Amino acid sequence: MDDTDTYLLRFKGYYFERSLVDTDLLENLEDFEIRDDDVFIITYPKSGTIWTQQILSLIYFEGHRNKSENVETLTRAPFIEYNVRRVDFSKRASPRIFCSHIPYYLAPKGLKNKKAKIVYVYRNPKDVLISYYYFTNLVVSLQATENVEQFMKRFLDGKVVGSLWFDHIRGWYEHKHDFNILFMKYEDMKKDLRSSVLKLCSFLEKELSEEVLDVVVRQATFQNMKSDPQANYDDILKDEIGTRTDDGHFLRKGTVGDWKYHLTVEQNERFDRVFQRNMKDFPLKFTWDINEE
Ligand code: A3P
Repeated sequence: MDDTDTYLLRFKGYYFERSLVDTDLLENLEDFEIRDDDVFIITYPKSGTIWTQQILSLIYFEGHRNKSENVETLTRAPFIEYNVRRVDFSKRASPRIFCSHIPYYLAPKGLKNKKAKIVYVYRNPKDVLISYYYFTNLVVSLQATENVEQFMKRFLDGKVVGSLWFDHIRGWYEHKHDFNILFMKYEDMKKDLRSSVLKLCSFLEKELSEEVLDVVVRQATFQNMKSDPQANYDDILKDEIGTRTDDGHFLRKGTVGDWKYHLTVEQNERFDRVFQRNMKDFPLKFTWDINEE
């Protein structure tokens, strides 16, 4: 058993976080009972999961918008594959929001009736890589690396939670006709959060007044989430997940193009070659820099 096996659990060709996962639960994932009004946020790690959890729970729950209910976002939009708190999801009131990093082929069968909705959020993989590098070094349950080079090798080998980024996004995109799915780009959300929230509302068939829309947008900005204990996961990191240092956060920088400050020219070119090989005929376009479009 190498070190990777201490941290990762491979199930049907996909890597889960070993310390959080329960194989019985994985065995039963395809029979997870889906309601027509369920909403799933699906992402590859570090692509904007928390952000979308926050936006969706603000759209759906007044108690989250006016802060009258003191429930963190993770509880409002829990992971189906990492049900660490052993919540009985069948007892939750509708509409239920869930999130997940699973690949398309492990999705609950009930999602294929195309009634329940899926929001798939994707981000340019160089920023995913850097965000993930910091995160794996922060969290005790993930394998730390000494430098970006070491992590980049692991990322491009798919030996991380979420497996290979290319397979994840390709899988969901190429099977999009099997699901009721909306693809949202992290960089578009960053560029124009209001339009992105409106796009989400239209897909979710939720009509919000202008005032409510303003509240959602305001509470979903990076700065506001970072200082909001319900949204920033700081307590979860400290009390449940465990960190190697005290100064790390889920909400680290929240920018587009941070990879430019971390990858060498050679690493960037190597990344581009692998990207071209895997994604050259892929229809979705990625934004590598905020000034690009
Ligand atoms: P960085 O590490 O680049 O800062 P996930 O939730 O999928 O783990 O993704 C985490 C990444 O999303 C982190 O990226 C985090 O800062 C970023 N993020 C979270 N909330 C955000 C927000 N409101 N605006 C922009 N980025 C956000």
